[in-house]
Amino acid sequence: MPGVPIRIRNLAHGYQTPRGRLVVLDHVSLDLPEGGYAAVTGSSGAGKTTLLAILGGLERPEAGEVQVGGQDVARLAGDDLAAYRRSTIGFVFQHFGLLDTLTAAENVELACTLAAVAPARRRARAAELLDAVGLTARAKHRPPALSGGERQRVAIARAMANQPRLLLADEPTGNLDDESAERVIDLLEAVRARHGCTLVVVTHNRDLAARADHHFALDRGRLADPEVVAP
Ligand SMILES: Nc1ncnc2c1ncn2[C@@H]1O[C@H](COP(=O)(O)OP(=O)(O)OP(=O)(O)O)[C@@H](O)[C@H]1O
Ligand SMILES: [Mg+2]
Repeated sequence: MPGVPIRIRNLAHGYQTPRGRLVVLDHVSLDLPEGGYAAVTGSSGAGKTTLLAILGGLERPEAGEVQVGGQDVARLAGDDLAAYRRSTIGFVFQHFGLLDTLTAAENVELACTLAAVAPARRRARAAELLDAVGLTARAKHRPPALSGGERQRVAIARAMANQPRLLLADEPTGNLDDESAERVIDLLEAVRARHGCTLVVVTHNRDLAARADHHFALDRGRLADPEVVAP
């Protein structure tokens, strides 16, 4: 499955709060080529998670155009939106989002079920996905018995269950030490190289951001001029 190009124009989003309207994304425009690798940085509250949630079809923007592989995600609804999420998106959450009562293998198998992998293939497919992230030996462990880095690798295996064309990762290394963080980023890059998916990673880590081919720096909902990240 090849990656998808992204084209965002004048994306605006905000929330009504008791203290008035909060502008979260302020006319953001950006482009990412098919199979591109982008880092999104910015201080807390800059709008990074909101941008990812909109790209992933989890949040509908107030205004603007969000073209992912030629579909305007901002205008999808109902079954079309569900189909978009199921067929195009892999999402890695900062806090893993694994079910603690299921083993690593069962967590990935559940994602295979949701991705409509044939019942007879699910167990084998989950095993392949866990093998690809180097966790075969930990497949029968539940998340509480795994390290943070291992949990994040399970989360990446799960995100790949539907062979997404766009892999979105929200601070996937936020809770990890430097060595585990590097392994997780190595793994995301390897997944992209192997599957050709487009990869967008939110990170606070400048070294990790510098590894991406594109860098989008958000500052209070606005995109700073594209900058070259210093090594
Ligand atoms: N459902 C909501 N209702 C009201 N305000 C919200 C809602 N979701 C997010 N916000 C606000 O929007 C702003 C941007 O949030 P967002 O989660 O996108 O920031 P972020 O850049 O991901 O920050 P962090 O680095 O802390 O994760 C924040 O001020 C947040 O409080
Ligand atoms: Mg966030």
